[in-house]
Amino acid sequence: MIKVFAHRGASGTYPENTQSAITAAIDLAVDGIEIDVQSCLDDYMIIHDSWLDRTTSGHGKVNASSKIYIQQLDAGNGEIVPSLQQAIDWVNDRTLLNLELKHTFSLDKFVELIEANITAGKLSRNNLLISSFDHHQLLWLKQKLPWVKIGALTASIPINYSEFAEKLHAYSIHIDKNFINHEFVADAKQRGLQVYAYTVDKPEDIELMLAYSVDGVFTNFPCHTQMILRSL
Ligand code: G3P
Ligand code: CA
Repeated sequence: MIKVFAHRGASGTYPENTQSAITAAIDLAVDGIEIDVQSCLDDYMIIHDSWLDRTTSGHGKVNASSKIYIQQLDAGNGEIVPSLQQAIDWVNDRTLLNLELKHTFSLDKFVELIEANITAGKLSRNNLLISSFDHHQLLWLKQKLPWVKIGALTASIPINYSEFAEKLHAYSIHIDKNFINHEFVADAKQRGLQVYAYTVDKPEDIELMLAYSVDGVFTNFPCHTQMILRSL
């Protein structure tokens, strides 16, 4: 069965990357939740953009703002921008957590946070998948945490991408649905890589991804996507 990942949580129905989007996705028993991680001045926050302006009541760059400032802002419907720790607490190892690293710095502290949560039993190795468009970060992380599942993220198909992902010891390739083709999926699978497509909301796109035999889809509407998949 194709896996359903809630993209930025159930972000088609709730404000993206917020507690309600995360908990709604858990209630749907999704196969995983994808959220975006940015560094602020003193912590890691769950927010897609490097600027606060689109998704919050605030302004300015996330990496130039403090956590205390960011958490005073409205991220939609009166919700806060979660810290990474809050998001981990809310998920509490109930489903796979895909952390997409956006503009993140001090990854040493990120590694410490992940290891502390694993030790505390709030996160298990199997339920963590770290992805990024920044493949240098992924390489570095894989060296620091050899056990970690890596998702090689791409918005296109660079030449020899599956070969690269295999060398990276990636678990999965996360690819824009518009770039998928049969050859790409077959090559990735032959290398033992999972293929996950984003962002797949429309019924015709879900059917297309099934035809391509991808292993999972990121969707803003996990409830709707699950219903469509069950009806096919
Ligand atoms: O992780 C898949 C997808 O979320 C990557 O693009 O811009 O939605 O973070 P974006
Ligand atoms: Ca993302």
